[in-house]
Amino acid sequence: MLKVSVLFETVGSGVRMGTKIVDRRLVGCLLSSSVVFVLFCLVFPLFVILVVPFASSTATFTTRNLAQNETDEVALRAFKLKIFRDAQGVLNSWNDSSHFCEWEGITCGYRRRRVTVLNISSKGLSGSLSPYIGNLSFLKRFVLYNNSIQGEIPHEFGRLRRLKYLILSNNSLVGEIPANLSHCSRLVELYVQGNKLVGKIPSKFDSLYNLEVLSLSRNNLTGQIPSFLGNLTSLKVLAVSYNSFGGNIPHSLGRLKNLTVLRLGVNNFFGTVPHSFYDLSSLEIFCV
Ligand SMILES: *[C@@H]1O[C@H](CO)[C@@H](O)[C@H](O)[C@H]1NC(C)=O
Ligand SMILES: *[C@@H]1O[C@H](CO)[C@@H](O)[C@H](O)[C@H]1NC(C)=O
Ligand SMILES: *[C@@H]1O[C@H](CO)[C@@H](O)[C@H](O)[C@H]1NC(C)=O
Ligand SMILES: *[C@@H]1O[C@H](CO)[C@@H](O)[C@H](O)[C@H]1NC(C)=O
Ligand SMILES: *[C@@H]1O[C@H](CO)[C@@H](O)[C@H](O)[C@H]1NC(C)=O
Ligand SMILES: *[C@@H]1O[C@H](CO)[C@@H](O)[C@H](O)[C@H]1NC(C)=O
Ligand SMILES: *[C@@H]1O[C@H](CO)[C@@H](O)[C@H](O)[C@H]1NC(C)=O
Ligand SMILES: *[C@@H]1O[C@H](CO)[C@@H](O)[C@H](O)[C@H]1NC(C)=O
Ligand SMILES: *[C@@H]1O[C@H](CO)[C@@H](O)[C@H](O)[C@H]1NC(C)=O
Ligand SMILES: *[C@@H]1O[C@H](CO)[C@@H](O)[C@H](O)[C@H]1NC(C)=O
Repeated sequence: MLKVSVLFETVGSGVRMGTKIVDRRLVGCLLSSSVVFVLFCLVFPLFVILVVPFASSTATFTTRNLAQNETDEVALRAFKLKIFRDAQGVLNSWNDSSHFCEWEGITCGYRRRRVTVLNISSKGLSGSLSPYIGNLSFLKRFVLYNNSIQGEIPHEFGRLRRLKYLILSNNSLVGEIPANLSHCSRLVELYVQGNKLVGKIPSKFDSLYNLEVLSLSRNNLTGQIPSFLGNLTSLKVLAVSYNSFGGNIPHSLGRLKNLTVLRLGVNNFFGTVPHSFYDLSSLEIFCV
């Protein structure tokens, strides 16, 4: 098991922190200054967010008396209608010549033929997210990272009760993280880093007990790191770096025994790194 021990010494009125690394593979990110620590980390790749002018399209559908499987098809068509640029033509296969389960990026469950995965990553898609996605009630994975998706994350995602993986990193999403995602109680991974999200970590997220990854880095999020995160003991990755979070780093994070990655750097935190962090014996990457 990899171990990191965090050492503290008081230097004048400031706090100095050193990270003693007991394995070469570890990335140790240090350290120090006066009471405010503003530190940075070299482990992040640089990236560029492509800004494409926003355009939207509207869709109207007759949704009366649809069979459940047809609801999925309507939702996928609504998704496609909101995409105004598809650089690699991935959505060309989304046409009447084949069943939606055969469309590129779509996986269906074997028995019911309902959509379980939508995965279209790094394909140069521009557009916004249709609220109709919330009707894909068997969806487990929604993966759209590294495109140019704009607009907000629809609150209707909160209706995806089977959703486990929501991976939207490296897009141009704006607005707040919808508190309604707290209804996705099976959520295991939430990746939204590298967008333009604002606002706070929703307090309703205190019920997401299955969450293993919460990756919020490189947005414009504010407020404090809520202490309830220390109750989400399944967490393995907690990344909040490059935002505008403030306040103290909560002591309760020391309870996250399974945490292997903790990225806090480049925010407006003040105070000291809590002593409870001595207990984080699984930690492999710790960036303050
Ligand atoms: C929906 O299910 C019905 C009955 O099982 C079937 O006849 C129909 O072809 C299905 N439609 C789609 C789009 O899968
Ligand atoms: C419709 O989808 C099929 C693949 O399922 C593809 O071969 C065909 O070119 C598509 N048609 C159009 C008009 O894009
Ligand atoms: C998404 O699909 C790509 C291939 O197109 C695959 O490499 C990747 O593992 C998939 N990601 C997820 C999270 O399912
Ligand atoms: C992200 O997408 C762009 C353009 O679609 C592609 O050139 C780049 O390689 C992708 N990056 C990663 C890390 O997948
Ligand atoms: C699907 O979602 C949209 C928008 O959230 C909604 O207006 C519509 O009635 C829903 N139902 C069906 C069956 O498509
Ligand atoms: C993020 O998106 C930009 C623009 O599409 C791309 O150039 C870059 O490689 C992406 N980075 C990652 C880490 O996916
Ligand atoms: C929020 O989630 C709840 C529970 O899944 C759902 O009933 C409601 O429609 C969602 N709100 C919106 C605006 O979609
Ligand atoms: C973050 O928000 C502030 C104002 O709330 C704004 O001045 C700043 O430009 C934003 N930063 C980014 C990277 O969007
Ligand atoms: C953490 O959970 C405990 C017990 O379940 C509860 O009493 C406490 O209020 C929670 N802490 C926060 C900050 O939500
Ligand atoms: C922590 O990790 C161990 C080993 O992977 C696992 O058995 C345990 O259930 C995890 N604890 C929580 C609270 O997820």
